[in-house]
Amino acid sequence: MKNRKKEEPSARIPEHIAIIMDGNGRWAKKRLLPRSAGHRAGMKNMIALAEYAFSRGVRYVTAFALSTENFLRPQEELEGLFGLFREYFKKNAAVMREKGIALKVIGNPCLLPEDVRRLIAEGEEDTKGGSEGTLVLAIGYGGRQDIVFAVNEAVRRGKEVTAEEFSALLSTDGVPDPDLLIRTGKELRISNFLLWQSAYTEFYFTETLFPDFGEKELDRAIEAYSERERRFGKI
Ligand code: IPE
Ligand code: IPE
Ligand code: MG
Repeated sequence: MKNRKKEEPSARIPEHIAIIMDGNGRWAKKRLLPRSAGHRAGMKNMIALAEYAFSRGVRYVTAFALSTENFLRPQEELEGLFGLFREYFKKNAAVMREKGIALKVIGNPCLLPEDVRRLIAEGEEDTKGGSEGTLVLAIGYGGRQDIVFAVNEAVRRGKEVTAEEFSALLSTDGVPDPDLLIRTGKELRISNFLLWQSAYTEFYFTETLFPDFGEKELDRAIEAYSERERRFGKI
């Protein structure tokens, strides 16, 4: 962790921030660069942003890096993204361990190349127990698929479940629901992210493209969150 004084978690600091990191392609296009350059800049920013969030007292950051629907993109773009994940897990797992950051990946591993799957599993294992914060990477993730998987598991067990028991069947088991969900890149939609888990999440949308969404922007989002009144149905 950088040499910053760590803030105590409080009601004003979200315990869990989820980010739909959108706008990488447009960021690159604006600079006349290939889309892959935007993904690289986005990945770098995501790691820096998560570390900053943990230094502010946030305990969980979930980053939407690749959706199930993104597999409809050209193979070349997907290969570039797999290459980035490969590089990221090789380079960063040890650094994360040293910084006390636990890595968790959610999504369908079957969608990923075998070696990336293995690197992910190793990265999760190596960083287990990190107590500074948990970085949840959603790779090959779809909210509906997560729910269907859980439903099928419940059916297989042959017993009716409560909402709480159902939550424990989702890939996010052990991670509290997000308090704040940020979407960069101008679109006003959830694009099949944490559908069940975001039932009472506060939303923050910004036009800023993800590689440009830095510490100051995150501060602004946290500040906006701290001004929200969360009633959870009460008066
Ligand atoms: C988000 O950036 C990252 C992924 C979906 C992999 P995009 O690639 O969607 O960027 P834009 O929306 O085209 O700018
Ligand atoms: C959402 O971005 C998924 C991720 C950021 C990984 P998209 O760019 O894929 O979303 P849509 O297609 O515009 O809804
Ligand atoms: Mg996009």
